[in-house]
Amino acid sequence: MSKPVIEERENGPLVIKGLTSMTDAAGNAVEVKPVMALCRCGASKNKPFCDGSHSEIGFESRGGEASGKDILLSYQGDDVTVMYNPRVCSHAAHCATQLPDVFDPQSKPWCNPNGAPADKVREIVRSCPSGALSLKEDGHLMPGDRAEITVEKNGPYWALGVDVDVDPAGEGATADKKVLCRCGLSGNKPYCDGTHYNQGWKDS
Ligand code: SF4
Ligand code: FES
Repeated sequence: MSKPVIEERENGPLVIKGLTSMTDAAGNAVEVKPVMALCRCGASKNKPFCDGSHSEIGFESRGGEASGKDILLSYQGDDVTVMYNPRVCSHAAHCATQLPDVFDPQSKPWCNPNGAPADKVREIVRSCPSGALSLKEDGHLMPGDRAEITVEKNGPYWALGVDVDVDPAGEGATADKKVLCRCGLSGNKPYCDGTHYNQGWKDS
């Protein structure tokens, strides 16, 4: 079976074709259609769907400056080596919240793979929605329990196993998991770069 595909519409929505599963920001399953237009300007009154508001607000799908460098960093531990590309990260601190003994943005280096058992580090790398985190030994680990599109509350779309018709976001990125901007503010569209978090963007 072919993968669902996301197409960018210039200065407009994300158009997704062939999706089979989607979860809304409240964790409820969304009825999927063969073709759907998803809001990415942040202004739709019918989120996550496009209602044409992008035209009213003059949304531009390019421009700005991405908030992380495109570089593949390596953090060596005794049992696992964590790889990280800041350009791909949505900077919403999922990893730091769940495993602060390993991922701590206030420390230098920010990642200490020896701060928790290797299995726990692996679990967090697996749950990273963007693929910014991977393991040198095992590459990108895929979560098995997520819808193809998951709408994060007050945040981006998490896309799993969905083709996006733009180049990979950065060095070491995977084609299989990505975080796509929904607020309209990212400097790295169509990818989320964490601006929603820094600017306190809300769904409503
Ligand atoms: S996208 Fe991945 S690396 Fe970035 S904050 Fe979230 S879990 Fe951490
Ligand atoms: S949803 Fe737009 S920057 Fe994250």
